[in-house]
Amino acid sequence: MNNHPRIASVRAAKITILPTAEEASQFVAERIVTLVRANPACRLGLATGKTPRRVYERLVAATHERKVSFSEVETINLDEYLGLGRSHPDSFAAYMHRELFSVADFDTSNINLIDGAVADETAEATRYAALVRSRPADLQLLGIGTNGHIGFNEPGSPAESRVRVVELSQETLAANQPTLLELDRVPPHAITMGIADILDAREIVVLATGAAKAEAIHKSLSGQQDNSCPASLLGAHGNVHWVLDNGAAQLL
Ligand code: PGA
Repeated sequence: MNNHPRIASVRAAKITILPTAEEASQFVAERIVTLVRANPACRLGLATGKTPRRVYERLVAATHERKVSFSEVETINLDEYLGLGRSHPDSFAAYMHRELFSVADFDTSNINLIDGAVADETAEATRYAALVRSRPADLQLLGIGTNGHIGFNEPGSPAESRVRVVELSQETLAANQPTLLELDRVPPHAITMGIADILDAREIVVLATGAAKAEAIHKSLSGQQDNSCPASLLGAHGNVHWVLDNGAAQLL
């Protein structure tokens, strides 16, 4: 069917493949609900982008159905565009409030976000780095870029990287352009948690849906840990669960 060889080491990774994005998202939402029910004051590491939207929809529904409460959950988020504060609709902070925080039962004092609108971005990165390192996430939710990025750790990001200011790749700028609500152009810089910060989480769940992610998923699970595909560095972690739909899994 395709030119990519099946990969032996894929068998070593924990991978769940479901037929549709809806089912994959439901699976991830259920994992989060189970965790929060067992550990109501857990720290969740959250992501933005198109992929987690359906997960958040289901978490909101679960809250309304009283299956779970997020009132004691503490959150951290992966990244933020530099130059955008929470009041800007294209900021990831605004996304998180719109999609999840203000529509589920989170306590705003437990929410930790990067402020992209600060005057001193290095100081903001330092503040956030300390906050992230103060407590490992019990679960870190990740999407993946078509170039294999996790958070805004673009190809070439060191495995030992921590929270820092980064420049976005052309591929990421192009991929995120259609998601903009108000801006004409994707901000070229961001603050992101580093690869090492992500690897500090106790459990990592990567959700990837759609054929556009198939190549990145294939590279990530090839068995080679190589920062030309940052998600492949997750291979160093003992508790990563890859949740894919058929499209994202089609080259495995
Ligand atoms: P997407 O982004 O969910 O919008 O595809 C994923 C990512 O860039 O991590």
